[in-house]
Amino acid sequence: MSGRATNLLRSLAVAAVAAVSLWLSASAGAQPALPISDRDAHMGVATCSGSTCHGAVAAMPGIGIMQNEFVTWQRRDKHAEAYKVLLNERSKRIARNLGLESAHTAAMCLDCHADNVASNRRHTTFQISDGVTCEACHGGAGRWIGSHITAGATHAANIQNGMYPTDDPVARARLCISCHFGDQTRLVTHRIMGAGHPRMSFELDTFTALQPAHFEVDADYRARKRSYSGVQTWAIGQAIALDSMLAVATDPQKSRDGIFPELVLFDCHSCHSPMSQLNWAPRASTGLGPGIPKFNDSNSLMLGIIAARVDPALGTQFRERMLALHRATVQSHDAMQNEAKALRPVLQQLIQKFAGHSFAAADLIALVEGVLTDGMAGNYVDYAGAEQATMALGTILNSMRQTGAVDQAKFQAMNRALDKVFSAVDNDEKYAPETFAAALRDFQTAAR
Ligand code: HEC
Ligand code: HEC
Ligand code: HEC
Ligand code: HEC
Repeated sequence: MSGRATNLLRSLAVAAVAAVSLWLSASAGAQPALPISDRDAHMGVATCSGSTCHGAVAAMPGIGIMQNEFVTWQRRDKHAEAYKVLLNERSKRIARNLGLESAHTAAMCLDCHADNVASNRRHTTFQISDGVTCEACHGGAGRWIGSHITAGATHAANIQNGMYPTDDPVARARLCISCHFGDQTRLVTHRIMGAGHPRMSFELDTFTALQPAHFEVDADYRARKRSYSGVQTWAIGQAIALDSMLAVATDPQKSRDGIFPELVLFDCHSCHSPMSQLNWAPRASTGLGPGIPKFNDSNSLMLGIIAARVDPALGTQFRERMLALHRATVQSHDAMQNEAKALRPVLQQLIQKFAGHSFAAADLIALVEGVLTDGMAGNYVDYAGAEQATMALGTILNSMRQTGAVDQAKFQAMNRALDKVFSAVDNDEKYAPETFAAALRDFQTAAR
């Protein structure tokens, strides 16, 4: 996690973000096309940024949406910089190392760093240099640009007209993760990492707030749209993140590179850590011996905890399948692919369960206990797991406050203890499991 992300995250637990009303319709079935492959004309940001549209200087009270979304995006949202970073020294070096002519003209980079739709869907006002624009998330506005501002416009009608359903956590997770990890068409492969691309991490609820969010889930929002609690968003995001890795693991082309599997599927630090750092210990969650690169299990550790609470039988099935996947990685490529295939339907079931579960105070307390118990059992010796556990605690604590599961005094004590947990994962290269474990123990004391 970058220092900037960590600093923002520290203030996150005290900011009211989401609310808890439920509209239980997350469907894991037919999914809408992502904006990069929708069928609509993309107009470019200039079309959205009028001062009476989304370009107000400050949030407008009392009219539903904030109307300053453009200003928030332009000034505070890194997506507005996403194209520009392709012109910097780091990108030049990555491009050189990969033998690309330049980063800002390569589809390999533009597919995630801009709204790189096919040329026949670029309206005359479209500019590739705008970066990850409104339409890269909300879908090409060709059909809805006019209708979404007419009297009587509804969110459902906008979606009919090609707006992407970012309010649905399954659809939102697929969208964000398609760039923050990859999908069928784009992926930061280990070769791109090797050329110098930064390591990526993602958690849906945390990153929604970090972006920063240019929407507020209040009564009027809930009347217009589906809304889910932060913990549901987190849970569903974990399932889609793991599913996206499994999609790559089962893809005949993407899953291997010569005699090696695609290494971004594995825990970076199982190879990238100093040889003097003798951290290896048996792990119940993988069952693997020493000296074996480990399939990235940071999302599955969280899913095991959530599933155990929401549906224990399905949780056991999930954990057994996950162990089988870890075992298969030391058998053969075919065995790994088969286990990855078998795990995907279990994830679909979990998503349905999470979408239909209203997380009550007792659930939230149990989830915190689950994270802490796993921590004490040594499951976060590796950085990636510790990083996910930290974002999980932030998300759960936020929901605890919103549902009144903690009083103000305890919330503040826990929030202070959370600061130390965040500091312990500030820098993956300086990560020390003992420091993290100590911070978790303090958090546990504050939670009691
Ligand atoms: C699958 C999507 C994807 C692809 C493909 C991709 N990137 Fe990225 N890139 C990202 C995301 C997401 C981040 C932000 C990671 C974070 O901060 O968590 C990022 C971050 C970066 C950064 C660091 C930006 C900063 O603010 O410091 C650079 C530089 C970069 N990418 C260059 C490239 C180049 C050059 C290519 C093409 C060779 C490329 N990327 C391909 C998604 C992608
Ligand atoms: C990285 C993805 C992303 C980008 C880029 C983005 N948005 Fe959003 N936007 C979201 C998400 C997620 C939501 C919340 C879910 C929802 O309400 O659909 C949202 C919500 C909104 C809402 C609805 C607020 C409400 O109360 O209903 C508006 C309006 C909006 N965005 C406008 C914009 C504009 C204008 C831009 C460009 C200047 C933009 N967005 C860029 C992801 C994005
Ligand atoms: C089209 C690709 C794309 C999509 C879709 C996308 N992102 Fe990003 N995101 C990026 C890139 C590229 C960066 C890095 C930009 C930079 O560093 O300048 C980034 C950066 C971020 C950052 C800043 C991270 C940091 O280290 O400061 C957050 C937060 C974020 N994205 C959240 C989201 C969320 C939430 C969604 C879904 C609603 C989303 N993104 C969808 C490409 C995308
Ligand atoms: C199975 C072991 C393994 C895993 C897992 C792995 N890597 Fe690597 N990585 C390597 C090897 C081997 C190299 C090549 C070193 C060389 O070129 O000398 C490398 C090179 C790199 C480099 C370039 C370092 C340099 O010297 O220029 C980066 C950056 C990198 N990996 C990032 C990652 C990230 C991020 C992940 C996780 C998403 C990851 N790696 C997962 C083995 C691994």
